[in-house]
Amino acid sequence: MLFDSHAHLGDRQFADDLDEVIRRAQENGVTHILNVGYDLEASRASVKLAEEYDNIYAAVGIHPHDAASVTEDTLNELRQLAQHDKVVALGEMGLDYYRNLSPKEKQQKVFRQQINLAKELDLPIIVHDRDAHQDTVRILKEEGADKVGGILHCFSGSWEMAKQCMNLGFYISLAGPVTFKNAKRPVEIAKLISLNRLLVETDCPYLAPEPKRGKRNEPAYVCYVAEKIAELKRISLDELAFVTHNNTKTVLRIK
Ligand code: NI
Repeated sequence: MLFDSHAHLGDRQFADDLDEVIRRAQENGVTHILNVGYDLEASRASVKLAEEYDNIYAAVGIHPHDAASVTEDTLNELRQLAQHDKVVALGEMGLDYYRNLSPKEKQQKVFRQQINLAKELDLPIIVHDRDAHQDTVRILKEEGADKVGGILHCFSGSWEMAKQCMNLGFYISLAGPVTFKNAKRPVEIAKLISLNRLLVETDCPYLAPEPKRGKRNEPAYVCYVAEKIAELKRISLDELAFVTHNNTKTVLRIK
């Protein structure tokens, strides 16, 4: 029973066969999915999909790539969407200095605004951090994100950073890169992290794990991420699935 803690099923790559993708996930033991918004349109679609499927939950938020377009109205609509029963987190939000599709200052401002919205709504947050490790931790601290906690998704930071985030009450989620042949940091994190702070995800349709690397990713493939981590931690896949599933429910406060 795996929980894919980060999927983007609203992506147009799933437009033609979404039902099949969800069925395949269930057939492969991926019983639960957190479907994550990245702009307003994707957030609205995420809520709608969560209404249709019992075991799909929604996160609503604005990705740092789209920070430039955020206004007061955007935040007000997120606040409204978040009232829905199946919305269990705010995100994804954060900083992306790798592609810098929005100006850094605006990314930081919108990240801070969304953390504060999460605090107001008392919802955990889903954090995206690419090449922005120091500013991510600094802003989480400065805005008091420990009051809500959440998930550092597709974690790519150091063990030092992981410890700082866990001290703030955050969970660490690993994705396809842990299976890549040249993987260093995610492998190190997988080995060092205590099982009770670990989650698994696909980030589909991106980042397909080995042996599907280069193809469209989908929730069913989270088993490859889980298998690799179980191997690194020298535990059974069943145990890893059980623990990460429960961790995801705990951080998202799902009964
Ligand atoms: Ni994502």
